Amino acid sequence: MARPKVYVTRRIPAAAMGLLQERCDVRLWDEEDVPVPRAILLDELAGADGAFVLLTERIDEEALAGAPRLKMVANMAVGYDNIDVDACTRAGVMVANTPGVLTETTADLTWALLLAAARRLVEAQKVIEQGRWRAWSPMFLAGQDVYGRTLGIIGAGRIGAAVARRARGFDMTVLYHNRRRRPELEAETGARYVSLDELLASSDFVVILVPLTPETRHLIDEDALRKMKPTAVLVNTARGPVVDEAALVRALKEGWIWGAGLDVWEKEPIGPDHPLLGLPNVVALPHIGSASIATRTRMAVVAAENLLAGVTGRRPPNLVNPEVWERLREGGGPRG
Ligand code: NAP
Ligand code: GLV
Repeated sequence: MARPKVYVTRRIPAAAMGLLQERCDVRLWDEEDVPVPRAILLDELAGADGAFVLLTERIDEEALAGAPRLKMVANMAVGYDNIDVDACTRAGVMVANTPGVLTETTADLTWALLLAAARRLVEAQKVIEQGRWRAWSPMFLAGQDVYGRTLGIIGAGRIGAAVARRARGFDMTVLYHNRRRRPELEAETGARYVSLDELLASSDFVVILVPLTPETRHLIDEDALRKMKPTAVLVNTARGPVVDEAALVRALKEGWIWGAGLDVWEKEPIGPDHPLLGLPNVVALPHIGSASIATRTRMAVVAAENLLAGVTGRRPPNLVNPEVWERLREGGGPRG
């Protein structure tokens, strides 16, 4: 059997690259932090059996139309809103993601944002750096307590559940809202299932961990923000477009809510002129939820394993559209 041809859209850890090079002819966009230009991506996909992509690459009808040999797209992320999965399924292209391996690392970062926003850590460091610390004073940089307060998790899946487990150490009341109840999560963590409105109205900390879908786009809009407590903190480690940023700017300026911790943005990357960055009550991060050395390495290896399986006739372990695999098994035949 000829060696499959795969395209990798960024420099990846050696452990993952080694796996691919053993079995495949690999072409690479050899950059550390610059996404592959769209025209080059489309050109490379034209001759590829498989693609290792990041969330910066859009895999849509246009990309698929020019990629007649493509069988497998492996996303190095758990979220896959950058991929038109329905279009891939129609085209007979398998799609896989990297669930699980980044859960605890992303839950840690979510907590880091929550604590930083609650206790004004970034603002406090700036006060020292700018020579504005004059004396210990009664209400100087006073923030919100975390211990014993109420945490609301919108999207209590793998990461949301890991965030809820950490809340036990802070003796918090935990509320959650999904489309479906999770009795096992309730039994394990004591979390209580509530409607979205009740979660927004009752939580001191609202953490967003839903995937970005047509249903969750702007789930947190002006209406939702106005339902939150004026002392509440919003934390988004899911995807930027789940929150209406224009409404959030107003909510933070006008005091509808107290603060926000944001790892993700409606249009990434953002620059220093972004309207949310000028606000003292925002803690801003450049989409680093899963960015520990060990976790990013594991994610790359998992994505490489998914890709290898897909291009060598095995079922990828983290298949998002299993119907394509079923079709292939029933003799639908591979693409190309
Ligand atoms: P997951 O296990 O699939 O959890 C997602 C949860 O969201 C599920 O419990 C799901 O429950 C719920 N949900 C889906 N649609 C919903 C809706 N319309 N309304 C309410 N709840 C809804 O995924 P995960 O592994 O925890 O990851 C979650 C997301 O985090 C990813 O999709 C990704 O976008 C983001 N993420 C970001 C970073 C980062 O670097 N900042 C890192 C990793 C992941 P139901 O199906 O019952 O509704
Ligand atoms: C990162 O944002 C991911 O979805 O893995």
